[in-house]
Amino acid sequence: MASISQKTIDLIKDTADIVDVVSEFVPLQAAGKNMKGLCPFHSEKTPSFFVSKERQIFNCFGCGKKGNSIIFIQEYKNISFMEALQYLADKYHIDLELDEGNFPAKSNVNLYKTNEKAMEFYSLNLLNIDSGKPALDYLMKRGLDLDTIKEFELGYAPNKNNDLFNHLSKEIQPLDLLNVGLINKSNQEGYYDLFRSRIMFPIRDEMNRVVAFSGRIFNDNTNPAKYVNTSATEIFSKSHVLYNLYRAMPFIRTNNRIVLMEGYMDVIKANMAGVKEAVCSMGTQLTIDQAMLVKKQTDNVIICYDGDKPGQEATYKAIRILENAKLNVKVVSLPDNMDPDEYITKHRDFKDFLDNNQLDRFEFVYKMIVGHKDLSKPAEIEDAKNKLFDFFGKTSGMIREIYLKRFAAESNINYDTLLGDYHQTQIDEKILEDYRLKVNRTVLTKTAMPKYEKAEIAVLNYYLRDKEYRKLIDAHIQQMYFTNLNIRALMQTALDKIKEWTTTPLIAMRSGLTTESVNLLEGYVNEKYEFAMEDLQSCIRMLMSSKHRQTVADLKDELSRLDSKKDRDKYLEINEEIKHLSSQIMELEGRKNGKKANY
Ligand code: UTP
Ligand code: MN
Repeated sequence: MASISQKTIDLIKDTADIVDVVSEFVPLQAAGKNMKGLCPFHSEKTPSFFVSKERQIFNCFGCGKKGNSIIFIQEYKNISFMEALQYLADKYHIDLELDEGNFPAKSNVNLYKTNEKAMEFYSLNLLNIDSGKPALDYLMKRGLDLDTIKEFELGYAPNKNNDLFNHLSKEIQPLDLLNVGLINKSNQEGYYDLFRSRIMFPIRDEMNRVVAFSGRIFNDNTNPAKYVNTSATEIFSKSHVLYNLYRAMPFIRTNNRIVLMEGYMDVIKANMAGVKEAVCSMGTQLTIDQAMLVKKQTDNVIICYDGDKPGQEATYKAIRILENAKLNVKVVSLPDNMDPDEYITKHRDFKDFLDNNQLDRFEFVYKMIVGHKDLSKPAEIEDAKNKLFDFFGKTSGMIREIYLKRFAAESNINYDTLLGDYHQTQIDEKILEDYRLKVNRTVLTKTAMPKYEKAEIAVLNYYLRDKEYRKLIDAHIQQMYFTNLNIRALMQTALDKIKEWTTTPLIAMRSGLTTESVNLLEGYVNEKYEFAMEDLQSCIRMLMSSKHRQTVADLKDELSRLDSKKDRDKYLEINEEIKHLSSQIMELEGRKNGKKANY
């Protein structure tokens, strides 16, 4: 295996400007010295995702994700560190210089060692130190024994600010601890531990290296997240790791199957129950990369996710992903909403249950969709039908026929009628897909303000009217904001289409739109509009001001979440920013000394 040379990595780090990298995927706007936008890693309506050009990092105050350009790409695209480097090297035309040889870059060796040392520290705290007693009691109460706790190398992160840091500082560089995501640095307090008062589950990769940790709350922690995982680092991307894979390998080979679960405790308890070929996807979001890891070990997967509704829905999604990796998939659904851990605690016959209750994937999906439906009710038949089309539309024709015939019989409808509906949905889907490509679903806006909407409609009219107008609009489009989603979508279509305007703009626009959008367009477009450059200029100013108003609203939101004493600097900075924007708004809207802004 060749790895990318340190020199190249450094060059990529220096070249790939964080603002440039992020803004390809996330619209950013200025916020003081920084840029900000809606976080791509969690859903939010007001931006808490900040990008610092100066420090070359991103940082989301909402979900805590942070890092440099490489880590951003790694997380955003759900790819490995190497793939992220490759991506950035392509983007910036940097030649990849390789280190030949079978050993990883030197810097990574340090990172693995750092995690090993941290793991030893956490383990010591759980097993040999008084303060770890409540954590140990908790694990015992959940049915683990000491051997299992040792086998899975569980630990305890003490409830102190920087115990880990102090303990390791003699042998480990702070930078390494920072780079594996175990500590952080603050201006006031210096280095502090990121995992505190949690039960620690070390996560090893398929080469048996400790790449990350997950920390579970138990009794005395005020942060409510049940499990906190190491965020992406140079050696860890959650989507590329299956928990317990290395330990399970020999058993996967012997049994020629892997059992896929959701959680750490499920896997550990399954081991106690004799199912040692169990791994978990660390949640319900199985990725194609995890499927590929499976594929290297075996072709046979048994999904045993939680028996509750989310678990069963995730099973459906996992089937799709595993199928894409050409794996044979079977499903075991647990009764009474239980997860494997709960089933094992209650019944103890888990291995038998697993062996005797496997459904093949088609049967599982069919039962999941049709099982709870009252097939004497047309609306329920219709609903089931659509879901069946969705899944069986992607299987082979033979499987489709088997299940659609069964459904026709069970719901007492004619198979030909059902098939007719199926073909119709295939056509509808094509049309819908085209529509989706046209109307880009951008961020939801705040309530529309009529005077801005008027200007928005005007700008659309100007854009379709004349090349000179278009030039002016193009020059400012990035600073303008459209509150009305329909107009925004039509503007977007116009911007996208402009290259194809060999006929009149209106005809070109119409050709690609759905009837619904054409109606909208015709409602907005008014050939008799009194066009004048002066008028367009003031409309543009209006929409630039609208964008500032949007930013101000977001900043005020952010202020309301800050503590004016504790976050004093930030608080003042945002206040300044609001003042500045407000005066620009006044100016743009011509309310300052009656002078119009010069833009
Ligand atoms: P569950 O919420 O089903 O937890 O999440 P669990 O496995 O039953 O855990 P216990 O029994 O309460 O201890 C399933 C898995 O999803 C991931 C973890 O890998 C967890 O084991 N997860 C869950 C997180 O990463 N973060 C969370 O906050 C919750
Ligand atoms: Mn559980």
